[in-house]
Amino acid sequence: MPEIIKVISGGIEYTKEDLMKMDPVLLRALLHERAHHNIEVPFYTTLLKWKGNPMPNFGQQAQIVFDVWQERGFTEDTPDIAWVKEYLAIAKKIRAGQKIEWTEPLPTPFTDEEMAVVNKLIYGRHSIRDWLDKPVPDDMIEKILEAGRAAPIGCNLDEVRFIVIREPEEAKMVTSDISTQNAVIIVICYDTRIPKVVGQDRSVPQNAGFDAAAAADHMLLMAHALGLGGVWLSENKTKAAAEKFKEQYGLPVYIEVALHIAVGWTAIGTIKSKRLPLTDMMIQRRGMCSDFGGKRI
Ligand SMILES: Cc1cc2nc3c(=O)[nH]c(=O)nc-3n(C[C@H](O)[C@H](O)[C@H](O)COP(=O)(O)O)c2cc1C
Repeated sequence: MPEIIKVISGGIEYTKEDLMKMDPVLLRALLHERAHHNIEVPFYTTLLKWKGNPMPNFGQQAQIVFDVWQERGFTEDTPDIAWVKEYLAIAKKIRAGQKIEWTEPLPTPFTDEEMAVVNKLIYGRHSIRDWLDKPVPDDMIEKILEAGRAAPIGCNLDEVRFIVIREPEEAKMVTSDISTQNAVIIVICYDTRIPKVVGQDRSVPQNAGFDAAAAADHMLLMAHALGLGGVWLSENKTKAAAEKFKEQYGLPVYIEVALHIAVGWTAIGTIKSKRLPLTDMMIQRRGMCSDFGGKRI
């Protein structure tokens, strides 16, 4: 009997044979997902209640996927695989009923000084739509991309992909409702094969776009911290424009364009738009009261 592992999302079953043939990009995503749902998510609630009795199946599915990853000789030298291995080691102990020393620190509130920086970042960021003809150094772009990489991501799937466009000729392929002259464009895409391999194209199809959006927000915050000005641009998302870009840029069919951002040296300061008062954004359940006010609906 071939060994069966069951991927929870969408209930897709993979045999070891399937895993041995699977595209490495998809196998890696499955490994991330299994480490997440089969170990990371149940782990914390398990640990708090755990009496130390062996749990023979704990994290077993993630282990099977990793064993195939290893058998196929794929890299173990990357941070994502190191993270998987950390959880696999914990799961192995739980399976065997071995004691776990847990020393991960709890979060502490920021100092006033640190909070001033956070406030400057969150409340100071605003959209910029005019840029100077001044090159943005590569290390700044890299910091922006790294910030995008650190954003929350649904089930650790890591399906988000980035394209950096600096050349004015290439920039013409990306359509926006404003001129992006002098800006660096970062196109945020995702690999549509990845949600499919864990059934999330059916269970949570919105997540891939949300992941791209979270990355964009992190990137715009980093751009602001670096003294650059950026804006989120959605125009390319119209189906026809996105398809044209994909074709012109030569992207594989399975890469979907979610949005793009433009960043560069701000040419002119702008008035920051203001949001509704918080009380107008709050929704209150009938009969319930809230410290934040808000209208009953
Ligand atoms: C989902 C989304 C789509 C956006 N699309 C565009 C766009 O196509 N063109 C544009 O100039 N700005 C776009 N923006 C930027 C918004 O116009 C901007 O965030 C909003 O006016 C608030 O201003 P602020 O960013 O300065 O706080 C978009 C923002 C978001 C979140």
